[in-house]
Amino acid sequence: MPPRSDPVPGKSSKAPIAKTQILRTLPALRRWRAGLRGRSVALVPTMGALHDGHLTLVRYARRKCDRVVVSIFVNPTQFAPHEDFGSYPRTWDADLAALKALNVDAVWAPNVATMYPEGFATKIAPGGPALAGLEDKFRPHFFGGVCTVVAKLLLQVQPDIATFGEKDYQQLKVVTAMARDLDIATRIAGVPTVREKDGLAMSSRNAYLSPEERAAASTLHRMLKACAIRLKKAEPVAQTLIEGEAEIEQAGFAVDYLEARHAETLARIASIKDGPVRLLVAAKIGRTRLIDNIAV
Ligand code: PAF
Repeated sequence: MPPRSDPVPGKSSKAPIAKTQILRTLPALRRWRAGLRGRSVALVPTMGALHDGHLTLVRYARRKCDRVVVSIFVNPTQFAPHEDFGSYPRTWDADLAALKALNVDAVWAPNVATMYPEGFATKIAPGGPALAGLEDKFRPHFFGGVCTVVAKLLLQVQPDIATFGEKDYQQLKVVTAMARDLDIATRIAGVPTVREKDGLAMSSRNAYLSPEERAAASTLHRMLKACAIRLKKAEPVAQTLIEGEAEIEQAGFAVDYLEARHAETLARIASIKDGPVRLLVAAKIGRTRLIDNIAV
């Protein structure tokens, strides 16, 4: 499925930077939005615990639009009861300082009752890339929760563009399909993954890793790169993936999946000729589940 490429109403040259507004209620958000009259707006949806990957999304948004709003909302509906909603890192003061330093115009920080008030009863049930047998196989509740909250954020903020990191590659494809299918007039922009020096993809969940796990975690990206090189040389897909899995298992990972998929549809591929190909991996080290992906 090709990404949408609708033009964004460009960034106008005379757009003075204002101080960061903290918006916590829908009326406050709507007042702020109504005051923008003709300015282009970018939304960066986040769950907080911001790292340089998020800040790269903000910088991208800043380059593309006159006004940037970052949402911070740890969305309960995308976590299963046994997952880490309760312990998900919440670092409001540091997040706000980082966003102010980047001259973000507004931070949209609703609470759970604002997003899911008493009687809330509507949920988006995504299909297509949301049923590709990747994250959805291990987190069946996840994309319903993501799509419901992202649809709400897009309808609340009405941005011209919304940015999503390629690190959550299936999420990017799912949200792109949702915006297209529901005629939401926001361009979904994918932004390349930001990595630590040793290749580990930046993630708020990296904070859970012990020093030993953190040292082993770089194997994930090294393995993806090695598999991509082998696939480019037309080595057999199945054997390459089996050996890739074995390599990260040796480093201490328990593998959920390592798959080569069509980069747009996420359909299974039998050979590199069925591409463009994306390699995607999810694996647990200790109690931390990491995901990553690269283009082949
Ligand atoms: O990628 C995330 O941080 C979340 O899934 C998102 C898109 C902010 C929705 O809660």
